[in-house]
Amino acid sequence: MSIGKKLGLGALALGVSVAGVFGWAKSAGAARLDHRWDTHRVEIPVPFPLSAEELRTLEPEGTMLAAEEKDKLALERAVARGKHLVESRYGCADCHGKDFGGGTMVDAAPMGKLLGKNLTRGKGSAVANYKTSDWERLVRHGVKPDGTGTAMPAVDFFEMSDRELSDLIAYIGSLPPVDAAVPNPTFGPLGTILLATGKILVPAEMVTDHHAAHAREAPVEAADFGKHLAQTCVGCHGPGFSGGPIPGGDPAWPVALNLTPHAEGLAGWTYETFEAAVRKGVRKDGTPLRPPMSMITSYAQKMEDHELRALWAYLQRVPAKPSGQR
Ligand code: HEC
Ligand code: HEC
Repeated sequence: MSIGKKLGLGALALGVSVAGVFGWAKSAGAARLDHRWDTHRVEIPVPFPLSAEELRTLEPEGTMLAAEEKDKLALERAVARGKHLVESRYGCADCHGKDFGGGTMVDAAPMGKLLGKNLTRGKGSAVANYKTSDWERLVRHGVKPDGTGTAMPAVDFFEMSDRELSDLIAYIGSLPPVDAAVPNPTFGPLGTILLATGKILVPAEMVTDHHAAHAREAPVEAADFGKHLAQTCVGCHGPGFSGGPIPGGDPAWPVALNLTPHAEGLAGWTYETFEAAVRKGVRKDGTPLRPPMSMITSYAQKMEDHELRALWAYLQRVPAKPSGQR
């Protein structure tokens, strides 16, 4: 049922005015945002210690690195990995700004104004008092330090491994401080109604288990690694990858397309056509991909070949489905 119909019926049945509906929507939406979430609390080492394998190459036969030299190398490597993650796989900068001093997720009068917070160490930082367990709850569970839900689409990051999260924290922590106070999200009339009617979900509501253990590291084997990478596509293309309208998305966005090997999806595509879509933002027929996919390709194009190939190999093996079944 469309939102218009839902509201119309609701108003008729209750016999209340539109103003009454708005009043109800405002408090129903606020109640969803104010809900306190019970999640696990996990501290993650930042930076991640050097692996046994790294140590074997760094400390050839009989040599030993000083502890502080090891710490320095571990941090350098973590920052470099975190930089790659931010530039190619996790679009944090899309909403938090290139310098991470703040940015825009949504700024449209009817929907509201959702701004990405300042994540640097400068004045107005949202993370000045963050412990690693706070990062963990916010990024993977969509829960703020006070236990309430965030509007940021954290569900896309639920499958992030501990080491990836640690690398992101190390990288963001290495950035120059930016002084900028970013206001909290506000919802316009449409955003308020969508929130109240459950058409926009609070991301913490989409996480199925707030106590489930997370992987320590991303899988290494190509097939599993491809599946791991594909988790950032699920929010729009659906858990079965067959696409459809994007939940909570801007109503002006086109539907997410079918990425399964179905005739309505990527059957007949080759790795080269897939690569052109992700790296150049063009479909098989040469037409350009529109937002929000064009926003995704702006960073996904920086994936390394082995990452893109693993993703493609995985997508070819998901069950073929007609479009729109998510
Ligand atoms: C689609 C847009 C978007 C993306 C992508 C995004 N964020 Fe956010 N983020 C937001 C918005 C909007 C807020 C403010 C939400 C709120 O206050 O409820 C926020 C808030 C935060 C906060 C602070 C919450 C607080 O305590 O006030 C942290 C930390 C954060 N994001 C980290 C990240 C990291 C790390 C990434 C990448 C893995 C990321 N974000 C990707 C939109 C985004
Ligand atoms: C924010 C939502 C969003 C995310 C996240 C997203 N996509 Fe898309 N994608 C779309 C939309 C919408 C379209 C259709 C664009 C159009 O019609 O111009 C699309 C289209 C595509 C197409 C073109 C399909 C065709 O038949 O032409 C490919 C390929 C694709 N996406 C791959 C991916 C991959 C791989 C990921 C994850 C790394 C991903 N997308 C993540 C929204 C998204």
